[in-house]
Amino acid sequence: MKKPNIAVLGATGVVGRHILEIMQNMHIEYENLKLLSSVKSAGTKMTVNGREYTLEEAKPESFDDVNIVLASAGASTSKLFAPEIVKRGGVLIDNSSAFRMEKDVPLVIVGMNDEDLKNHKGIISNPNCSTSQLILALKPLHELAKIKRMIVTTYQSVSGAGLAAINELKENTKAKLENKDFTPVKFVQPIAFNVIPQIDSFTENGYTKEEMKVVNETKKIMHLDSDVQISCTAARVPVFVSHSEAVDVEFVENISVVEARNALSNSFGVTVVDDIDNMKFPTAIQAEGKDPVYVGRIRQNLAFGNKGLSFWCVGDNLRIGAALNTVRICKRVTEMELF
Ligand SMILES: NC(=O)c1ccc[n+]([C@@H]2O[C@H](COP(=O)([O-])OP(=O)(O)OC[C@H]3O[C@@H](n4cnc5c(N)ncnc54)[C@H](OP(=O)(O)O)[C@@H]3O)[C@@H](O)[C@H]2O)c1
Repeated sequence: MKKPNIAVLGATGVVGRHILEIMQNMHIEYENLKLLSSVKSAGTKMTVNGREYTLEEAKPESFDDVNIVLASAGASTSKLFAPEIVKRGGVLIDNSSAFRMEKDVPLVIVGMNDEDLKNHKGIISNPNCSTSQLILALKPLHELAKIKRMIVTTYQSVSGAGLAAINELKENTKAKLENKDFTPVKFVQPIAFNVIPQIDSFTENGYTKEEMKVVNETKKIMHLDSDVQISCTAARVPVFVSHSEAVDVEFVENISVVEARNALSNSFGVTVVDDIDNMKFPTAIQAEGKDPVYVGRIRQNLAFGNKGLSFWCVGDNLRIGAALNTVRICKRVTEMELF
């Protein structure tokens, strides 16, 4: 198997650091590795697989001879460099929202729709963090009973908004406990001891972009019929890592809790934690640093009856929501010789 030359764009960010850690843990093989950032971190050092690398400022020529770029440097940076990467024959695996809904760009969750990778034309997108964990839990249920409509409510951690947001939760919490004034910067209202029902900007229909990402990306990845209806409310909560989601689904066919639990227990990337007699259900802290999406509180939905289920799912947004799936895509692209 050919070993790629890999560049990590945004290597100093929260997601970038996780990408490097997971690459080491998964023993991703490469010929050469290059770490790229903005001018701010250029010249700093990072160690990967026992070797010290100097961060380079990303420029078009940085992508000469690079086969695969793992990018987590924001949408504008991805848009800036994507043509330069593709022009040079490289494959961009992008964490940002820049290209996710473009027709020629596969939006892939490894283990769910790997075949779509074959259609790439130089850019592959990694889904939004809330979408990734949702689909790992949904797909086995969809295969059993076919989704008709769904309502998702997300409780998203601050790390989903990057390093600055993590620091803001720490500083805001400290200020609140010390009775000091605090002016939020990353969030529109104080995040400490609060829940903010707004992530990203509002769109014309009153939903936020984050909510519409869940709706549109889910349909694209799962190749759902256009008449499947999905609605989402996304809230930011004062949790450092891991997103939680309450999901209510109506299916075309009847589906029981036992059938759902069995299907989920045998599904890739999912761990069922569902034992209410012993107070066992998944929470954000349990998922931090772990690979699976944890599913619990599986029950028949009271509004949808025998055709409906409700469940709670939790996943590490930095891993399955971003870095882990990115590195898994890189591995599949290498195995499938798609670079
Ligand atoms: N956090 C999540 O859970 C999550 C999940 C899915 C997707 N994403 C997406 O992943 C991306 C990064 O998120 P993050 O949370 O890791 O953000 P972050 O912690 O703020 O890191 C941003 C990274 O991008 C680099 N960067 C910024 N501007 C650049 C430029 N002009 N050229 C080259 N590099 C540049 C920064 O380098 P410097 O050190 O030089 O500033 C840093 O390495 C975003 O698009 C985000 O939407 C994040």
